Amino acid sequence: MLDKLKEIEQTALAALESVKDQAALDAWRVAHLGRSSPVMQVFSGLGGLSKEERPVVGQAANKVKVTLEAALAERTEAVKATALAKSLEEDELDVTLPGRGVRVGRLHPSTQQLRLVLDIFAEMGFQVYTSREVETDEINFQALNFPPHHPARELQDTLYIDAGERGDNPLLLRTHTSPGQIHSMREASSKNPENPPPIRIVLPGMCFRSEQITARSEVQFNQVEGLAVGENITFADLKGTLSDFARRMFGQDVRTRFRASYFPFTEPSAEMDVECFVCGGVGCPVCKQSGWLEILGCGMVHPIVLQNGGYNPSRYTGYAFGMGPERQLMLRYKIDDIRYFWGNDMRFLEQF
Ligand code: PHE
Repeated sequence: MLDKLKEIEQTALAALESVKDQAALDAWRVAHLGRSSPVMQVFSGLGGLSKEERPVVGQAANKVKVTLEAALAERTEAVKATALAKSLEEDELDVTLPGRGVRVGRLHPSTQQLRLVLDIFAEMGFQVYTSREVETDEINFQALNFPPHHPARELQDTLYIDAGERGDNPLLLRTHTSPGQIHSMREASSKNPENPPPIRIVLPGMCFRSEQITARSEVQFNQVEGLAVGENITFADLKGTLSDFARRMFGQDVRTRFRASYFPFTEPSAEMDVECFVCGGVGCPVCKQSGWLEILGCGMVHPIVLQNGGYNPSRYTGYAFGMGPERQLMLRYKIDDIRYFWGNDMRFLEQF
């Protein structure tokens, strides 16, 4: 029986030598590994063997089967390689067919606008400072002069992080980039508490608010904060810097206006409008017929905030501002729904 197995193996391997294509491979598999092939016959005949013979023959038959399967796999590879080489050599290759294009990625429109804003301020001498997205209530609100339960918090409802019992100082997602004012001032003043250095930074990043998502409000958006602190900084510096920013961003002829406003962390506070660049100030649907578009909030840093940052308010003054790059893009390109920004729809993103 064992001799017979040896013979089965040799016959099969010899037959495989002459196999040259897929059809022959299939036929070989049926003949030498198929249900009625000689090896398989041996398996079905095992029942008729004696108890002693059965395991010996079984094992030997199994070995033959494994050998044949391996030889088949190897031959299949060889046949495929030959077929490929042959088609490359003989078949025509049409080099005029257009190739498959490589899809090049690009920056998200918000990132593009964010960088444009940062570039403009960098030219004016501002440094980029980044700060965390997960904040404490203390830094996001209290140090910015929003006491616990103050009604001004209503304007910035946020998303809280469950981090156990933290009383009036829960962990939350920052609602604006303004807490970065506190971090940057504390960092600078801690190095030289008697004589803290001047600061001139822009602070970009994602902010979060607990909002009903609509065409006009999203739960996340970017902001760019600005902060300048030093001696003799006045509201005139604020106006000059921001008007210059508007000219660089929207064109040298753009007009700006400042309207009184309220933020707990600035005093006085203002909002800056630019002349509507869609209608040139005559009035249109984008500016709701007013001729003006609001683009940022700003003001002189509140003395309490300077104090909280380690800057003596009787010696230092400063200004701060905050703006939204998505809002600027919406105005520039008349995008009527803020949800496009994080909807991941290529038809929108590919336009930038
Ligand atoms: N943090 C304010 C907001 O998100 C904007 C702002 C920043 C206003 C700095 C004044 C000064 O609405």
